[in-house]
Amino acid sequence: MATHFVIDGLKAEIEGKEILKGINLEIKGGEIHAIMGPNGTGKSTLASALMGHPKYEVTAGSASIDGEDLLEMEVDERARAGLFLAMQYPSEIPGVTNSDFLRSAINSRREEGSEISLIKFIRQMEGKMKELEMNPEFAHRYLNEGFSGGEKKRNEILQMMLLDPKIVVLDEIDSGLDIDALRIVANGVNAMRSEERGFLIITHYQRLLDYITPDFVHVMMQGRIVKSGGPELAQRLENEGYDWVKEELGIVDETVGQA
Ligand SMILES: Nc1ncnc2c1ncn2[C@@H]1O[C@H](COP(=O)(O)OP(=O)(O)O)[C@@H](O)[C@H]1O
Ligand SMILES: [Mg+2]
Repeated sequence: MATHFVIDGLKAEIEGKEILKGINLEIKGGEIHAIMGPNGTGKSTLASALMGHPKYEVTAGSASIDGEDLLEMEVDERARAGLFLAMQYPSEIPGVTNSDFLRSAINSRREEGSEISLIKFIRQMEGKMKELEMNPEFAHRYLNEGFSGGEKKRNEILQMMLLDPKIVVLDEIDSGLDIDALRIVANGVNAMRSEERGFLIITHYQRLLDYITPDFVHVMMQGRIVKSGGPELAQRLENEGYDWVKEELGIVDETVGQA
């Protein structure tokens, strides 16, 4: 069955404050969707709520992959159901090497008794690291510890490649990347495009979308998707900012914190 990801009326709050005010989004296998929006509108909150971060309380709505309700699942079950999130700020895990982390992440998605062999894992990891032009020594470093911003982002893409998820959510994967790293990361994403996989790319810069062509672009403001279109929408936001969207839709600025 082709991948089908549906978010329906999703509302979420942080410490009692409603941030997501009813998000609707549908992503089919083969599609790339981009969400753009000003700082503090809830883009990362959407990513975290989908992944099951304990700080974000979902108060209404649903999210499912191929009809399987994600919101009822524990974080690891969501990953097993095929959801992958590259975080805006990846965590450092001192004491756990990158390769140990990757191998156990792969194995946690497999049945007991059918774990990936060490040799096969190393071959796959080394191949993907080469594609991402990563120094082989990163396999043995502690996860994200002392990695630069760009190295962390590349490492998130490495995880994505090895985990082979159905739905990929990339939160500001382009932030902190120089132009070469941006190209490498984008190539990694493009190489993973397939009919079985859908992407949700969260970004507030259009430049990533010069390298990864989205099928749909959505504008998020104040916790809602307020406008959807094609790649030309991203270009217009880049050229003109967000004010015209607000004017068009009669959105009055709330004083929200910067995120
Ligand atoms: N852990 C948190 N605790 C309190 N407030 C938060 C937390 N995370 C996000 N927020 C608030 O939620 C709003 C949306 O943040 P976020 O989803 O990070 O926005 P974006 O990713 O669109 O820039 C902001 O007002 C931010 O300050
Ligand atoms: Mg964010």
